[in-house]
Amino acid sequence: MKTVKVNLKERSYKIAVGADLAKLGSAMSALGLGKKIMIVTNPKVGHWYLPPVEQSLKKAGFSVYCTVIPDGERYKSQESANNIYAKCLQYGLDRGGTILALGGGVIGDLAGFAAATFMRGINLVQVPTTLLAQVDSSVGGKVGINLPDGKNMVGAFYQPKLVYADLKTLRTLPSKEFAHGLAEVIKYGIIYDTSLFTYLEKNMGKLKKLDEAVLQKVISRCCAIKAEVVTLDEKEHNLRAILNFGHTIGHALEGITRYQKYKHGEAVALGMVGAVKIAESLELVDSSVGDRLRALLTKAGLPVVIKNIKISWANFLRFMQHDKKVLAGKIRFVLPVRIGQVKIVDTVPLPIIKEIVKSLSK
Ligand SMILES: NC(=O)c1ccc[n+]([C@@H]2O[C@H](COP(=O)([O-])OP(=O)(O)OC[C@H]3O[C@@H](n4cnc5c(N)ncnc54)[C@H](O)[C@@H]3O)[C@@H](O)[C@H]2O)c1
Ligand SMILES: [Zn+2]
Repeated sequence: MKTVKVNLKERSYKIAVGADLAKLGSAMSALGLGKKIMIVTNPKVGHWYLPPVEQSLKKAGFSVYCTVIPDGERYKSQESANNIYAKCLQYGLDRGGTILALGGGVIGDLAGFAAATFMRGINLVQVPTTLLAQVDSSVGGKVGINLPDGKNMVGAFYQPKLVYADLKTLRTLPSKEFAHGLAEVIKYGIIYDTSLFTYLEKNMGKLKKLDEAVLQKVISRCCAIKAEVVTLDEKEHNLRAILNFGHTIGHALEGITRYQKYKHGEAVALGMVGAVKIAESLELVDSSVGDRLRALLTKAGLPVVIKNIKISWANFLRFMQHDKKVLAGKIRFVLPVRIGQVKIVDTVPLPIIKEIVKSLSK
């Protein structure tokens, strides 16, 4: 097991990477939390992991309750949050109580939002079970729900007391879901760490086969990068924005296809390819960066060209302009200057963006 620390003064916490669900109870005892724990999960994840988690917590002396939310992004909703609040009230969780998110990013964001808001905030523990959640959504404190008109439109910055990732949970994760997480993993290489990127180029095969040593190394490195970025800029005033590499075009692609065609990781893969092309056309990078990125994404099982959809530029632009990350009407791009370093550019001429988005389609 490797521990990564997120240093945020009194809100500091540890990320345990390669931990064992059977020891979760004792890890949580060490945090000095109240006795009552509300586990939030979905039927799929619960089927596999609720029994060992409950058992471990009970063995450590906790009183354990559970809210099961149906599987799917559309349940990252106010209604689901209300169901969690109702269960917390029913079982008398007070401010010493803890909400434990057991699942992927949907459960993590939703349960985290409920923890941030119930009684103005109770303890939160994240037990992420998808690759995306282990490297990204469970770390850094962004929690939230969707509104009928927009994803992640209501939320908070709310740090957990512990992130506890058991890598064995990835064995039951469908390989397609694993690939979606790989998009964010590759992102960390480009934005922050040349050696991570090179390591991924060499070890993608082993990573996809869930080789334990490789998983451990890659996931802990990604968490360390996110932890470092979040420590320096918790509320996304500047540096944290680099985590949005690939997301400007990615979010717009998700939006114009009404979240039906692309899963987030696939859209981010295409967004990263687009961002590198923009960087190339602004002469910020040479073409080897794009070549290496596309080769690695392909190895990971992610798309590098847009197929079978016709993109209306006006619509696409509207989605880019409505992204939450747009500041004063300027579309912000995170662009690589080399593998391992990016810069934020909000002056990319619209005709260039249009040209590149067009060029992504085959
Ligand atoms: N808070 C953040 O900083 C942040 C960052 C990135 C993404 N997100 C959010 O994360 C969400 C996406 O998360 P995700 O990709 O983990 O999707 P998800 O939570 O929907 O999980 C994907 C699928 O895998 C299943 N699953 C989860 N763990 C499993 C396991 N171990 N074995 C078998 N099946 C398993 C789930 O039931 C689901 O069907 C989105 O809502 C996105 O907005 C948040
Ligand atoms: Zn993302």
